Amino acid sequence: MGTTAQQKIDAVSWYHEFDFGNGLRAVPKTPVDSGHRRIWAFIEDQLGRIDFSGKSVLDIGCWDGYWSFLAERRGAKRVLATDDCSQNWAEGQGIHVAKEMLGSSIQIKQDVSVYQLAGLNEQFDIILFLGVWYHLFDPFFALTQLRHCCHPNTFVLMEGSVATDLGSQEVLYNFADHNCEFLPHPDGYRQLVRAAYFSEVGCSFLDPPDVPGRLGWRWRLRLCREVLRGSRDGIRAMASPTPDGKPRLKTANRRMFLTCTPFQGTNELHAYKPPFGLHVYDDRFRG
Ligand SMILES: C[S@@+](CC[C@H](N)C(=O)[O-])C[C@H]1O[C@@H](n2cnc3c(N)ncnc32)[C@H](O)[C@@H]1O
Repeated sequence: MGTTAQQKIDAVSWYHEFDFGNGLRAVPKTPVDSGHRRIWAFIEDQLGRIDFSGKSVLDIGCWDGYWSFLAERRGAKRVLATDDCSQNWAEGQGIHVAKEMLGSSIQIKQDVSVYQLAGLNEQFDIILFLGVWYHLFDPFFALTQLRHCCHPNTFVLMEGSVATDLGSQEVLYNFADHNCEFLPHPDGYRQLVRAAYFSEVGCSFLDPPDVPGRLGWRWRLRLCREVLRGSRDGIRAMASPTPDGKPRLKTANRRMFLTCTPFQGTNELHAYKPPFGLHVYDDRFRG
C-alpha cells in the first residue's frame, strides 16, 4: 500500500501548524500552547495590514514557511523563503511537503544564514524577519545584512521578543538559553535598527508594555514566586532598579512587531564611518 498524504505529512517534525484542507493537517512536534497560537494570530493580524500583491518577498528564518505561503496567497509575485537549517531542531522537510500540498511556487533556500544575506545580491519589496532576532548572537550584524537587501521603498517587517522591564537602552544576552539568546528592551532594539540605517514607521505590541515605573500585578506575582523559591538572587534582581530608576521585572517578555523602511543620509548614531558596508548609505562617508 502506498504512503497516504497524511502519512507523508506525519513523517515530518513540524514547527508550524497547517490545515491543508480535505482533512489533511500538519501537527507541530512541540505542543502548541495558547502562547504560540497567540503569537501567530498577532503576526497574522499585523501582516493583514500589508499589501503583498505584485511584491517580491524575502522571508528570513522561514522554518516550515507558513508566512511565505501566506505572502504568496496574498498575491506576492515572488517569494524567496530562506533559512539556516542548522539553527533549528527539524530536518527542513516541512516546507517542501507544505509546498507540494499547497501547490505553491515559492522558492526555497535553506542554507542561507541571516549573516550571509548580502551575498544574495538581491533587493526585495518586502522582507519578513519574524521570530528570529531573539535567537541571534550578533543581531546588529544581522540587521546590516537585511539593510543590504533593501531598495529605497522596501518594507521590513520584524517581530520578536522584547523585555519592557529593562532600562530603556539595555539588552540581555544569554547564549545558554536556546529559547532566547538575545532579549532587548524595545528602545534598545530600536537603536540597533536605527544604527543599521532603518527608520521605524510602525510598532505594535502583543501585550501593552507595562506602564513605566509602576509595580503592577505581574511584578508582584513574580516577586512572590521568587520569594517562594527562596531565590535571593531573583529577589535582589527584581528589587534593584534599572539605570532608569525603574523596577526590574526579570522575565517581563512581550512580543513587538516593528515596521521599518531603509533610509539614506546622515545617521546621528554614527559619528565615524559605520562598519559592515553601511557607509554607502551615509552621505558623509560614501566617498
Ligand atoms: C522561532 S522560529 C521562527 C519561524 C518563523 N519565521 C515564524 O515566525 O514563525 C526561528 C527561525 O529562525 C531561524 N534562524 C535562527 N538563527 C538563524 C540564522 N542565524 N540565520 C537564519 N535563520 C536563523 C531558525 O532556523 C528558525 O527557522
